[in-house]
Amino acid sequence: MNSPTTSALTTTVWKNWGHIDVPAPPVLVTPRLILRLPGDADASAIVRYYDRNRVHLAPWEPARADAFYTEAFWRRQIAHLHGEFSHDRSCRFFLFDRAAESRGEERTVVGNAGLSNVVRGVAQFATLGYGLGAAQQGRGLMFEALEAVLACAFSDLHLHRIAANYLPRNERSGKLLRRLGFTVEGYARDYLKINGRWEDHVLTALTNPDWRDDEDTG
Ligand SMILES: CC(C)(COP(=O)(O)OP(=O)(O)OC[C@H]1O[C@@H](n2cnc3c(N)ncnc32)[C@H](O)[C@@H]1OP(=O)(O)O)[C@@H](O)C(=O)NCCC(=O)NCCS
Repeated sequence: MNSPTTSALTTTVWKNWGHIDVPAPPVLVTPRLILRLPGDADASAIVRYYDRNRVHLAPWEPARADAFYTEAFWRRQIAHLHGEFSHDRSCRFFLFDRAAESRGEERTVVGNAGLSNVVRGVAQFATLGYGLGAAQQGRGLMFEALEAVLACAFSDLHLHRIAANYLPRNERSGKLLRRLGFTVEGYARDYLKINGRWEDHVLTALTNPDWRDDEDTG
């Protein structure tokens, strides 16, 4: 992706935390989705999403303890995600159904797309992870979401490189990354523990050739 373009509207606003100013987490709006860090009020929608998609997500994600499917866990996790964002370590979006929100229906989480392991200094990189509900697949929704996340990563978050890794048998994920412009850089044996087993991964990445040193966030 030479110059990332997206239909997302991002605005960097700042909030004051007593003695320091930190940017408020970005909110990305695409034709069909709203991407944002979840708030406390989203805990039940997140639990519903993961509960509905237990079987669908299991082959692609870490094994989950029973507590993962509770609101108490997610309320703690949501606070943790905001803490990580304010320390510039991650930006973990959840995907909300925009049409349902505009009709005033129950808040519906349809997936997640997050940047984690942010490293600054000479690196300026992060790792991308994502997942979509079974019923939402095959409509280009994750492509739409990731275009927005990548534009945000390269502009608002001023990252230079995004890494994304997938299981060799996850052809759907590999195809999605290729369509977004990611290129394969390697193959790592026993890389991540997925569904209880150490699994090989294909390593891919996308860099921003328009990254400007003079905006270096250090
Ligand atoms: C991998 C995953 C994110 C893909 O999500 P997705 O939304 O189906 O992916 P895409 O956005 O690329 O869309 C897929 C299909 O929709 C089609 N599509 C694209 N835009 C479209 C549009 N506007 N309308 C209709 N279809 C469209 C694409 O052509 C593609 O079809 P194809 O696979 O037959 O070529 C999803 O399957 C998933 O979450 N799986 C389980 C968890 C997982 O694998 N996570 C990733 C771990 S690395």
